[in-house]
Amino acid sequence: MKKYKIKIKTDNIIGKVDELLFGSFVEHIGRAVYGGLYDEKSSKTNKEGFRTDVIEAVKELGVSIVRYPGGNFVSDYNFKDGIGKKDLRPARLDKAWMQLEPNIIGTDEFMQWCKEVNAKPMMAVNMGTGTIKEASELLEYCNHPSGTYYSDERIKNGAKEPYDVIYWCVGNEMDGSWQIAAMDAKDYGKKARETAKLMKLTDNKIKTIVCGSSSPLSSTFPSWDEEVLKLTYDLMDYISLHVYYTYGKDRNLKDFLAAPKDLDNYIETVIKLCDSIKVEKNSNKTMMLALDEWNVWHYNETNNTQIDKWSVGPIRVENTYDYIDALVVAGLLTSIVNHSDRVKIACLAQLINVIAPIMIKNDKLIKQSTYYAFYQFSKYAKNTLALKCEDDISSFDSRYGMTKEIFYSVCYDEIKEEYIVFLINIGESAILDFEFDTEVELIESVFLTGNINDFNDENNTPIGLANYENSDVIEELKFVTKRYKKSNKIK
Ligand code: AHR
Repeated sequence: MKKYKIKIKTDNIIGKVDELLFGSFVEHIGRAVYGGLYDEKSSKTNKEGFRTDVIEAVKELGVSIVRYPGGNFVSDYNFKDGIGKKDLRPARLDKAWMQLEPNIIGTDEFMQWCKEVNAKPMMAVNMGTGTIKEASELLEYCNHPSGTYYSDERIKNGAKEPYDVIYWCVGNEMDGSWQIAAMDAKDYGKKARETAKLMKLTDNKIKTIVCGSSSPLSSTFPSWDEEVLKLTYDLMDYISLHVYYTYGKDRNLKDFLAAPKDLDNYIETVIKLCDSIKVEKNSNKTMMLALDEWNVWHYNETNNTQIDKWSVGPIRVENTYDYIDALVVAGLLTSIVNHSDRVKIACLAQLINVIAPIMIKNDKLIKQSTYYAFYQFSKYAKNTLALKCEDDISSFDSRYGMTKEIFYSVCYDEIKEEYIVFLINIGESAILDFEFDTEVELIESVFLTGNINDFNDENNTPIGLANYENSDVIEELKFVTKRYKKSNKIK
């Protein structure tokens, strides 16, 4: 069996693992909102029509921030359709996903739901068919205390206190040919700059997120990002990155498992780009990264937007995630945590039913395999310090270049004085030797249960978390979390 060493030094800090790295995304698409977080037909709802089992699961998952209302949906969405008396709200055609939008859930309902799940809201404004003015009106509706048309509308609609939404996405994937009213980089850059200007004049506390490319595979990546950043650098606080992984045409398992290596490359390219523009602009500001859509997404028939066309809450873009998918999600989380000096927001896309860790089937809530991967990181890495380590782990040649057989992150929790080691072994079983610069005691070792093709459903839940007995060996295709307490002994 191979033997590897990981050397851990407490003062070798990458960055603070911001709680906003454990965000997610709720779009008006498929059964994410209607039949997901909200369901008037279910017996499991509270008086607002929100599913209480979903609220409990989202709280347990520790989701810190939720991006809303899209996604592609936002590029033809008028927030004014979704506020005020429900019986007066118009139904609209959602042309992004070919379904009917009844506008029963809108800005105020989303804000109430965020409160219920203890998450911050992250709003996206319509940069497709929407105007610069409408973007600032939505911000005024959300954040202005009172005494103006839109703030008084909010108060009339029941919210006396402003929502104080800090994080604002200036559009969604505006480079994508599928995006309603897509633009080239120059047109988007100018519109985004003027929108951010007007929004920051409305409320200077906000943080703005500019659209980068919709994927590292886009033919205009990274030139789109470069041009947009040049036009908007001073007015933006984050650049948005989106990425989804699936198998290649050859369905090579090792290549799919190597996805975190690609995320490393993507993040590092965007960082280099941001920093070169910082130099060019002689700016004091360092641009941060918002990976505000990331996940595993296997395309299947539920991607077909012609199914149940123009109905409310049809099945769209749903995936059943197996054990391998959870390993990839956990691996991607190591990449996020290991870049926590620059990635300051990350949103698992999405949260409920649509490529989601939480699924509702036959009125029953299912925690998918990916739920447990996210749960472990969110529970133990949030607000810690990510540490840079040395190791001698061997590499293999994947479609993303030389890739380590084990992905890992090591975090230090200063308050609890605990080290947390997340390990995803995509190679053969191996013996691991951890060398800490201080005395430690292993307090817990937990692994993701199940076999590679397993998945959870209404009747069978092979995937979950259990104590891991074999402490030195990490078996092949396993995700293990180890926690060590700093001991008082002097090394
Ligand atoms: O998350 C599903 C879709 O993926 C989003 O609407 C879009 O932004 C991305 O292409």
